[in-house]
Amino acid sequence: MAATTISRAQAWEHVLRARRFDWQRGLSYQHGPISITAGGEWHCSDDIDAPASQLLDIMLPLVARTTPLVMAQLGQSLDGRIATECGASYYVTGQQGLVHLHALRAVVDAVVVGAGTVAMDDPRLTVRHVAGENPVRVVLDPRGRMSESRFVFEDDSAPTLHLVGHEHVARWQACHERHGRGVSVGGLGLKEDGVDPREVIDLLRHQGLNSVLVEGGGMTISRFLQEGCLNRLHSMVTPMIIGSGRPTLTLPVIECLSQAMRPSARHYTLGDDVLFDLDLGAVAQTDRN
Ligand SMILES: NC(=O)c1ccc[n+]([C@@H]2O[C@H](COP(=O)([O-])OP(=O)(O)OC[C@H]3O[C@@H](n4cnc5c(N)ncnc54)[C@H](OP(=O)(O)O)[C@@H]3O)[C@@H](O)[C@H]2O)c1
Repeated sequence: MAATTISRAQAWEHVLRARRFDWQRGLSYQHGPISITAGGEWHCSDDIDAPASQLLDIMLPLVARTTPLVMAQLGQSLDGRIATECGASYYVTGQQGLVHLHALRAVVDAVVVGAGTVAMDDPRLTVRHVAGENPVRVVLDPRGRMSESRFVFEDDSAPTLHLVGHEHVARWQACHERHGRGVSVGGLGLKEDGVDPREVIDLLRHQGLNSVLVEGGGMTISRFLQEGCLNRLHSMVTPMIIGSGRPTLTLPVIECLSQAMRPSARHYTLGDDVLFDLDLGAVAQTDRN
């Protein structure tokens, strides 16, 4: 009898199954030819094709976990830009990069974006390029400055949570109610240097949203990274030089390279792009850690 070969589509089903598995109750499980242990190690007793194997390598550490996940993704040019000066970013990465982004959305409870991204891109933040469920969409808008007519507010294909400074909560609740929308509004404390990302993580965890993808833009991800609030960063580098525009990450100035972050990294080729998967370790203490 000819040996079965696990395809990428079948591997994706294993990823979704591993996401649904309760890792608190068991540190390993087997389904068909594939066994997975907490942390994302896997073994396949059948043949498996290269794209399927790569998919399991990349995705299983995100879902086979006993602790919450806070990760970020960026699609960047070779010269470290995520968009042009005026904010155009469709599309920095290629088709496989786009599929990867949708795969990330499909394995998290919530996807967080900053006000700049919602203002500029008016994104949908749903899962369309892979099979899977939509995460809760979270708009980080501390100054409550968003336009009322953004897609994520008007579309009910996924729950949306609009996080604004406490002083803007009542106004936005009234606004969403007036339009008959199911958008929830949450309040955040706004300090001189903005919102503490730990407060965002806590607020989401209180709502049972334990795995979080911070999808952009650069300023929002930089703040989560600076505060030690990311377990992982997926940085997709595309062979394009924009030469000007919005930077990927902006962190406080350092003087020597010994102060630079050097997280452990794996890398994978996805079409013309290279995905750097950075392991940033544990997330900084939040109220619920
Ligand atoms: N290539 C990619 O992977 C990718 C992904 C996403 C977005 N983008 C592009 O990135 C651009 C937007 O990125 P961006 O860096 O300019 O903006 P952004 O990160 O989307 O949003 C920044 C804004 O969000 C609010 N915010 C986020 N974190 C905050 C905090 N901790 N405290 C206080 N406020 C906080 C602030 O709103 P206020 O300004 O109201 O204070 C801040 O100015 C767009 O052009 C988009 O197309 C690219």
